[in-house]
Amino acid sequence: MAAITIGPLGPDPRTRSMLASLLVEAVASGGSVSFMHPLSKAQAATFWDGSLAAAARGERIVFGAWDGEHLVGTVTLLLDLPPNQPHRAEIAKMMTRNSHRGRGVATALLRAAEAAAIEHGRRLLVLDTATEGGAAQLYERLGYTRAGEMPDFALKPHGGLTGTLIYWKRLG
Ligand SMILES: CC(C)(COP(=O)(O)OP(=O)(O)OC[C@H]1O[C@@H](n2cnc3c(N)ncnc32)[C@H](O)[C@@H]1OP(=O)(O)O)[C@@H](O)C(=O)NCCC(=O)NCCS
Repeated sequence: MAAITIGPLGPDPRTRSMLASLLVEAVASGGSVSFMHPLSKAQAATFWDGSLAAAARGERIVFGAWDGEHLVGTVTLLLDLPPNQPHRAEIAKMMTRNSHRGRGVATALLRAAEAAAIEHGRRLLVLDTATEGGAAQLYERLGYTRAGEMPDFALKPHGGLTGTLIYWKRLG
């Protein structure tokens, strides 16, 4: 994978716009990331506004994968958990532009999120992914353990229910 760089994203308008395009494309292509298709770019931008503001408060880290000046992937590390769970973090909103899939972008993003989680003293990562059309294979390849499945958890972006799979991984 040549020239892909990974780093935390700040709340500037250009970054937010590229995140919004990425989210719209991921939803349109069937990615289960909380939204329904069709997702407008304005709705997507509103979501990222809130997420980047939370990142600025230190409650999460939004990572981006860059191919030159183009944002080609993202993942979020959620750090803002209840007081009795200071040792863990959650992975959310992982997506790669269609043009850059199957090249290790999400793998590199997850590795960066795991390293940051360790730096923040987090020793347990938790995530969920759709049973249909999710990223279960990728998480299992990276050492995540499947805790179980909940049926009919959410609607797929184009309609119809899917279950969700819960995964965890100990760090360090
Ligand atoms: C899931 C998703 C993020 C994966 O992104 P990606 O950047 O294509 O992921 P990677 O390239 O790291 O890994 C995908 C596959 O490519 C393969 N791969 C990894 N590096 C590779 C490389 N250098 N060359 C070729 N193939 C590679 C991996 O073996 C992996 O296969 P697997 O599914 O058997 O594990 C992407 O498909 C996506 O955006 N989906 C829509 C949103 C979504 O569903 N997100 C998950 C929410 S939980």
